[in-house]
Amino acid sequence: MLTDTHAHLYYPDILDSLPEILQRAEEAGIGRVIVPAVNLETSLKILDLSKEYEQIYCALGLHPCDVSKSNPNEINEIEKLLSHKKVVAVGETGLDYYWDTSNIEQQKDLFRKQIRIASKLKLPVIVHTRDSTDDAITLMKEEYEQYPVRAHFHCFSGTLAQLSECLSIPDSHISFCGNITYKKSLLDEVISAAPIDRLLSETDSPFLPPMPYRGKKNEPSFMIKTLEKISNVKGIPETELMNVVSKNAEKFFALQ
Ligand code: NI
Repeated sequence: MLTDTHAHLYYPDILDSLPEILQRAEEAGIGRVIVPAVNLETSLKILDLSKEYEQIYCALGLHPCDVSKSNPNEINEIEKLLSHKKVVAVGETGLDYYWDTSNIEQQKDLFRKQIRIASKLKLPVIVHTRDSTDDAITLMKEEYEQYPVRAHFHCFSGTLAQLSECLSIPDSHISFCGNITYKKSLLDEVISAAPIDRLLSETDSPFLPPMPYRGKKNEPSFMIKTLEKISNVKGIPETELMNVVSKNAEKFFALQ
């Protein structure tokens, strides 16, 4: 059973058709969807969704693009929600230097905080990076000795050197999104080099739909197209890849 490890299914226009979206996912062999939060409000919403839909699991945390808007107590409130049985990760957290570089210290501070919470609770952490991969890796390595944690670098689009740095963190995993299917994608070499035992599957719905769905709202069932591309680039049968990433997700997120 496949898992879409990253789909933001809480937007109002998506909620309207969520039963159909989950049905299409199921038909495509995707039995679980991890929905990552970006703040307290979405954390609460996702918890509710996970109670309503068996397929939905939660990652709760504060996104780097939301740290400026957050109140100082927000992360503590989110921390209290992490003991729910369908919470499988902390996140998404990380660093984003694309949208805002005026608050880098605050972003780093909250990233560290979430790594430490995840380490304490023995949950993995979902890491977002944009123009910030080197800093995110450095920070994770600094934290690792005292606060070891399993890191999922989602939507990986770094270089070969960054890939090997990410993978040097014990038990870290990476995943690719639909943008690897775009003509201008320069990620084939990185996909080739990524070991399948460190690979997870995701969509980042509703963003980055793979071809031929570009221009549409992405949804978990489209994940098959991204996996198709990975299996082509790596020259391994699709069924084998699906098998491996399914098991990786179950182990990494300790899914039942
Ligand atoms: Ni995301």
